[in-house]
Amino acid sequence: MRILMVCLGNICRSPLAEGILRQKAAVAGFQCTLDSAGTNGYHTGEAPHHLSQKVARLHQVDISSQKARDFTKEDLENFDLIYAMAGDVMKDIQQMAGPSEHLDKVTLFLDELNPGMHQDVPDPWYGDEDGYHEVFDLISNTCDQIIKKYNIHQTQAIQ
Ligand code: 4NP
Repeated sequence: MRILMVCLGNICRSPLAEGILRQKAAVAGFQCTLDSAGTNGYHTGEAPHHLSQKVARLHQVDISSQKARDFTKEDLENFDLIYAMAGDVMKDIQQMAGPSEHLDKVTLFLDELNPGMHQDVPDPWYGDEDGYHEVFDLISNTCDQIIKKYNIHQTQAIQ
């Protein structure tokens, strides 16, 4: 399964989601290809925000080698599952995609934790370190649900 995490800048939330899910997938034996991207292009080529890196490191998750990249239309073809970190990101993706058969691959990330609630992962960019800790915990809990949901499917598919 190919999974893409998308936020605005690809420096705060989606790098955490990519790194956390990668680590949990390795532990769970969940085979997936992971990447992340951003819709606003302001930080293309940059490493994740230093506070995202710091908070991840405190949980033994290393995201330091990631580089921000732009979300593209081709991502809709190249991934099986695309998680938007927030509603504005979802709208950006829909706008970029136009009419596309692939739009049903796009899901609000927190709907995996709280189905049907359509909640955003808060953007920590404008706040202090506390916000990054909150976002880490939220993303980590959601990744646990994703692993549970798809790892079960994968096991069933093998049997
Ligand atoms: P992210 O946070 O979408 O979680 O990476 C942001 C980072 C930068 C900006 C907005 C959100 N910005 O406008 O520069």
